[in-house]
Amino acid sequence: MKKKKTGKKLKITLVSPEVHPFSKTGGLGDVAGSLPKALARLDARVTVITPFYGNTRTGDTHALGEAPVVVDGREKRVEFLEGTLPESDVQTIFIRSPEDFERPGIYGENGRDYPDNPVRFALFAQAAILAAHRWCEPEILHIHDWTTSLIPVYLRTGNRMGGLLAGVPIVLTIHNLGYQGVCDPSWIPRLGIDPSLFHWQGMEFWGKVNFLKGGILFSDLITTVSPSYAEEIQQEEFGFGLDGLLRAHKERLLGILNGVDYTEWDPETDPHLKRTYNPSRLIGRNTNRQELRKIFGLENSRETPIAAAVSRLNHQKGTDILLDSVDALVEQGAQLVILGTGDPDLEARAKALAERLPGKVGVKIGFDVPLSHKILGAADIFLAPSRYEPCGLAHLYGMRYGVVPLGRATGGLRDTIVDWEEGTGERPANGFLFRDPTPEAFQEAFRRAMAVFRSKKKKGKKTLWAGLRARCMTEDWSWDRSARDYMKAFQALREGRIPRVDLKPGEDLPWEILPPGKEEGPQAEASAHP
Ligand code: ADP
Ligand code: GLC
Repeated sequence: MKKKKTGKKLKITLVSPEVHPFSKTGGLGDVAGSLPKALARLDARVTVITPFYGNTRTGDTHALGEAPVVVDGREKRVEFLEGTLPESDVQTIFIRSPEDFERPGIYGENGRDYPDNPVRFALFAQAAILAAHRWCEPEILHIHDWTTSLIPVYLRTGNRMGGLLAGVPIVLTIHNLGYQGVCDPSWIPRLGIDPSLFHWQGMEFWGKVNFLKGGILFSDLITTVSPSYAEEIQQEEFGFGLDGLLRAHKERLLGILNGVDYTEWDPETDPHLKRTYNPSRLIGRNTNRQELRKIFGLENSRETPIAAAVSRLNHQKGTDILLDSVDALVEQGAQLVILGTGDPDLEARAKALAERLPGKVGVKIGFDVPLSHKILGAADIFLAPSRYEPCGLAHLYGMRYGVVPLGRATGGLRDTIVDWEEGTGERPANGFLFRDPTPEAFQEAFRRAMAVFRSKKKKGKKTLWAGLRARCMTEDWSWDRSARDYMKAFQALREGRIPRVDLKPGEDLPWEILPPGKEEGPQAEASAHP
């Protein structure tokens, strides 16, 4: 991409609990590791602030200093280390507080959240503010999900962190509204937030404290990771109880699709693949398929397509829809590989299916990045039966590797997949979509995919499937366009074209918040995966 020379670089500070390749539990890590590099290519000066976890391989770092933060009613000293995001000159500041972050997990262990997550991420928010103030002088503060949502709360309510970062616009990106960071009000003194915020027009939410609600209220601009998801979260079905609030703030809500880092996800250079390949020379895939079949104990059969799911195993991802459909998929003549971790019941069901259908279904429970690459380097169909999907990155990676996506028409899946029967000259088909979150609808789409896979018909020199696969491999979902959209939004904010939250101490919020209209609170997750 050409560098735009503007002379002055916009100083952006991005704060995230996970940043690939330092830490990752899902797509947020990928975004926080790749968006800064894309912004830097557009002439921004970006700093990333993230915790130092016990096993973080930081590369070269040096100590920047230390500072006190106040959580749990006591002062704690945190250390700051400076490093660089690999293959870039993006400055990275690691926050070191061993008792809080040097643990086996990021959000929890053995499927359970750490019970002290509210104070861990309160500490992170305060330390990030101090680091941004001392070493970044940001012109834009870009925060992500509930884990960073106390940043605007600290800066714009209560004691205001001593007036730090006054006037700096804050952008909150919501990666998943299902995780809001909810805790009991008894935590309020431990978090050091203003107790008067415990009010339905503040951070109170069905009798609990809600971090993300604070982030939404006190940030200037709310973005989410696809245009469709920005619409969906304003509806009751996808709003997890915050749809009314988001509707009330829709003029400050924007959907920007995530991008893919093709230096990391490229079958031509991928070091995890047994054989690399490209759209005009696919022969390496055959070797990769043999290897994958060996890893998952699948029968060798050249004609049989491999369907794959690489995903968290939970309700959001529709893992139950997939597992309910395994017999039908196998009956239709496909093999299936699943790589994932998540809900222990779903993990157990998946393993039981692999035992019942050996040679046809292979399951690995775990988070294994090299294996995820190997699966994409060999599979034919990527399965994404998500009930909701803010963006979804794994299917976009798969497309570059020639894995045709089959997904539910929701969020980012709907914005990136064009169904086989709905392609147009402008937007040709690149996969398969289904609408209802049911095994029947999923299986019907799978039947259609298998019919195209098996078809002997040709278009030009290619079979229908080869044409579809070629289309997937050559589509461009890189960050370039999305990073430009972020820059446009940041500039609009700086120029006052998006309403700003500029509260004077003691002043009321400049908007009305819709009161909750239901009898019972919604089922958002307390914290865990962002
Ligand atoms: P989400 O963030 O909701 O989990 P995304 O599709 O946006 O979904 O991103 C998931 C990321 O995590 C992708 O990089 C995907 O390859 C990776 N991933 C998910 N599950 C696993 C796993 N079990 N092992 C390795 N990588 C995984
Ligand atoms: C969340 C969403 C996923 C999205 C990712 C990165 O984890 O579930 O759809 O791609 O964040 O934005």
